[in-house]
This record gives sequence, structure tokens and C-alpha cells, in this order.
Amino acid sequence: MCGIVGYIGTKDAREIIINGLKRLEYRGYDSAGIALQNCENGDFNMYKDKGRVAHLESITDFSYSSCLGIGHTRWATHGVPNQENSHPQTSNTGRFFIVHNGVIDNYKELITSHLNDSVFSSETDTEVIAHLIERYSYTMSVNEAIRKTMSLLEGSYALAIIDTYNPYRLYACKNKSPLLIGVSDDGVIVASDVMACVGYSDRFVPLEDKTFVEIDGAKYHIRDIIGKEVVHKERPIDVDYFNIEKGEFSHFMLKEIMEQPAALRTIIGTYFNDDGSVRVNRNILDAIRTSDRLYIIAAGTSMNAGYVGKELFETLAEIPTEVHIASEFAYNMPLLSDNPLFIFISQSGETADLRAVLVNIKAKGYRSLTITNVKTSTLAREADHYVEIMAGPEIAVASTKAYTAQIAILSILAYGLESHRMDLRKELSKVAISIENIIDRRDYIEALVEEYLTKRNCFYIGRGIDYYGCLEASLKLKEISYIQTEGFAAGELKHGTIALIEEGTPVIAIISQRAIAKNTRSNLNEVKSRGAKTLVISTKSVHQSEDQIVVDDVYESFSPILTVIPAQFIAYYAALHRGYDIDKPRNLAKSVTVE
Ligand code: M6R
Repeated sequence: MCGIVGYIGTKDAREIIINGLKRLEYRGYDSAGIALQNCENGDFNMYKDKGRVAHLESITDFSYSSCLGIGHTRWATHGVPNQENSHPQTSNTGRFFIVHNGVIDNYKELITSHLNDSVFSSETDTEVIAHLIERYSYTMSVNEAIRKTMSLLEGSYALAIIDTYNPYRLYACKNKSPLLIGVSDDGVIVASDVMACVGYSDRFVPLEDKTFVEIDGAKYHIRDIIGKEVVHKERPIDVDYFNIEKGEFSHFMLKEIMEQPAALRTIIGTYFNDDGSVRVNRNILDAIRTSDRLYIIAAGTSMNAGYVGKELFETLAEIPTEVHIASEFAYNMPLLSDNPLFIFISQSGETADLRAVLVNIKAKGYRSLTITNVKTSTLAREADHYVEIMAGPEIAVASTKAYTAQIAILSILAYGLESHRMDLRKELSKVAISIENIIDRRDYIEALVEEYLTKRNCFYIGRGIDYYGCLEASLKLKEISYIQTEGFAAGELKHGTIALIEEGTPVIAIISQRAIAKNTRSNLNEVKSRGAKTLVISTKSVHQSEDQIVVDDVYESFSPILTVIPAQFIAYYAALHRGYDIDKPRNLAKSVTVE
């Protein structure tokens, strides 16, 4: 989490950094800061405070020109969000400014062993790095001092560093946390995400772990920790500026919900041949086909998509599939089959919990595939294979179009392995139209939200694949409306949780599976007779006249791709009516780059 942006060149550093931070605010938004060199008198100024980038902008002096600076938008890990703990952090004498994304696991030990006479002005782990660099700079070059400091740090870091004694250089380095440089003829940007560079750089270079960059105007050198030049390749930046703007929409989340039919059509156009067969790299399909068990590793919404993927791989391709919470799997690996394939599902491709597993299983020689929205991401680069979900940039913290795109991709992979029982391309096209039909009825869903979502808590219940849909539906609702919501296996309620149902508790059932629809309805009656206020999302073939939201029938194993759409709207409107910050809910960040 946290976003960092630095710039050195002939353009206005302040504009590039502030705009970059605004685009990276999805990574954390507790506080923000910037350090800039005043080109007119050579001084360095720092502005930082608790709050958003818009606030930072309002406290930054715009009266002078600046060609060098670093900025930060924070998701607090060490110390409360306040001005002292905001970045940039400075070294003892104020010579070095640094911004940091990551967590230094051994910062307390480093204080004891190297810095016990230092005075600290913040509670952050980051300040330790600034002090160490300064200490080493007394006896070695800055370049060496940074690399020496890197060799002492345990944990994750992406750093941008300014040495005020040399305003013609910008330094950066990284381990585990994402970092890249954006390159153009007028200067170089250092950023956590390529989005910060769009419109300013035309090429970028993703940095590898334990590398260090020294930037001098538009020239840069990438070195490893012992100072050896690293071979690298510049890649074109092909992100469309329009895609990272809200346009006419009041929120990115609403825009992204509405983009789902288009995303599905892009997927269809990309991954199907004219004859309806799938167009996926043979090596990927072979890797799946030849494995005796698939291990899906993911977190949050991507994990909920993974559950639907399990259903698809097992029903369409008959390959046993397990889904694991990445943060658990990283340190509690179960017994594995003889020939596993690991599938990492991640919208951002940067989630630290997944990366910990990937590093681990690669070291053991296992094969891996990443399914991601960001083809340049760490997980895409480091796995043996990757498939891009083609959803376009997803900015709102609450994931919507990535979920449906992930399921579509999982269905295509599973379908690519089976002897075709249905026409998947046609089926996905139908889904796109059905989503449009739900979008057209969003006002009706908004009215239902006003009527039903009146309490502090709520339950989503379902069975089988609908239960997986409930997990995602409840995650959406809780993360942006702060209504305490659980997704529950309907049959399990009576084993304890039904005790929580009281007069007026909203219970939303998802019912799309013919074989178990009756069972879910019985469970629904059980909660109804205990006072619950029930709302049903069902598909046409299993619906009953009193169901409030009825969606089209689709191939049963991917019904969550459709039943989730009303749930996304329910979450959106519940948060809207409560007046919350929908795109940036409290305590969260979009890209979770710390474990
Ligand atoms: O980028 P990832 O898909 O790896 O992120 C995993 C989760 O942090 C993410 O899906 C999170 O749960 C969503 N923001 C929820 O909407």
C-alpha cells in the first residue's frame, strides 16, 4: 500500500507529482506529502499532513518552479495518520528526504544496532532508512550508502530518495513493493504504478527486487545491490488516459459497474476465434491439462472469483481444484498433490500475500499461472504464464468489473480443456446483454435498498455456487457501506448463526441453482419466521412471483457473474445513501502490497 511518485527533469515536478499522487490515491489515503526543490533559490521545501492529496495540494506553495521532487500518499502501518508520520521522512540533519511504500520488519533491531544515538521525530519504520543512509553517507558515496542501507533492510520497500546536497540526482530502490520508472525525453518519473506516468512518460521500466536506480535528468542507471549494471528493457506505456478518469460518472465504482458488458465483449473478442474455439496460449492450456490438481491462490474479491473458478474447472474440465487464502497458504502450506499447478488470481497483480506464495512455490520448482488485470505487474512477470483479464483500469477500491472478468477468463480456460457441452462465446455474449438489462433497472434496485437496507447488519445466504456469490456480495456491501454483512451457506444458519436474526434483520438470498433452490427457500422461510426482512435475487428458471430481483438464466456454473450485478448496485446505493466515500472506503486501499 502507499503510493510514491518522484520526478526529475525539465517539466514542473509539482504538477507531475501531485497528479501522480491523485492517481495513486487508491493505494492509501490516510495522509500525503511532497518535498520539492525550489529551482529559483535552490532550497528544498516539504509539505505534508494528515488527509487526502487534495488537501496536500491546498497547502503546497505553487509560486516557484521545481524540477525535482518526491511525493507520497499513505496507508498507515507504523504510527497513526498525522503530520509527523506522513512522508517524506527526513534524516537526522534533514539532508535526505525519502518516501517509502512497504514495511521494514527489522527496523527496531536496526535502531538498537546502528542508530541508538539518533533522535526520531516520527513513529514510522521509514525514518530509520533515512537515518541509516545519512550515517553511511559520511564515509561513502550516496550511491554506496543507499546500497549499504538496502543490504541491512529486511522486509519490503519501494523508496524514492532526494539528497539535498545534490539536486541533480534522484535515487530509488526496491524490494518486494512495486516500483517502476517512467521515461521521456524531458525527465524521469519514479512511481508505484504506471498510472502515475500516463500523459508524462511514453516508456517505462519495471524494476526488479533489490535493484537501485540513480537518475540524472533524463539519464538513468539501474544497478543491483552490489553496484553491477542491470540489463533492462523499456516498454511502451499503452494505458489510455480516458480510462483512468471518472468522466460523467459520480464515482469510479459506478463507472466500473457499467463497464462490465464492454469488458466482457473485449474478453470475447480477445479470447475466441471466429469458429467459437478459445484463443489461449497452448502452453497455458497444457499446463492446466497436465496438472493433477489446481491450487487457486488469491485474496478478497479475487478469491471469491476463484471459488467460481473451482466450480468451473471441476464441472467443465474435471480437474480437482482447491482455493486458498493467500495469506494463510504462505505460512501454512497443506500437503500438495504430485503435479500441482498454482493459479494466482489478482486484479492488481501486486498483492503481497500472493507474492509470498509465488516466491515460495517457485523456489520449490512448482509451475504457476497468474490471472491479472495488469500485465506488467509483479505477479504477471514472475509467474511462468499469465492471462490478462482485459477489464481496463479498475480504480474504485471495491472491485466490480475485475470480478466478472476474472470469472469470464476462468470459464474460458476451463472451457478450453473440455469437449464442448455448450457454446461459451454465445453464453458470455448473453451475459453481457443480461448485465445491461440489470443496469437499466438500477433505479428500482436503489428503491429496494432504501426499503430493505435499514439496519446495521445484513446477511446474504445461498447454497453451492450461490454461496460463493454471497461471499462476494457481502464483501461488497460491508466494505463500502460499513453494514456488518456476512455471506452464509444457507443450510448452516440453523447451526448457530440464526440466533442473530431479529425483527427486521435484512436477509438477502441468492437462488440460481435448480437442484437446491427449494432448500434455500426453506432456509429463507426459517429466517422469515424469526422476523427477518427478506429479499431474493433469483434467476428466471427458479424464480417465484414474490422475488424482488429476477435475472436471466445463464449456464449454471457461472451464474454469480450475473447475480453479483444487483449485489454491486445494492452496495453502491447503500453507501451512497449513507453519504460515504464510495471509491475510497475507510481503512482500505486498492493495492495491498504489505503482508
Ligand atoms: O489486486 P487483488 O485482486 O490481488 O486484490 C485482492 C483484494 O485485496 C481485493 O480483491 C479486495 O478484496 C477488493 N478491493 C474488494 O473489493
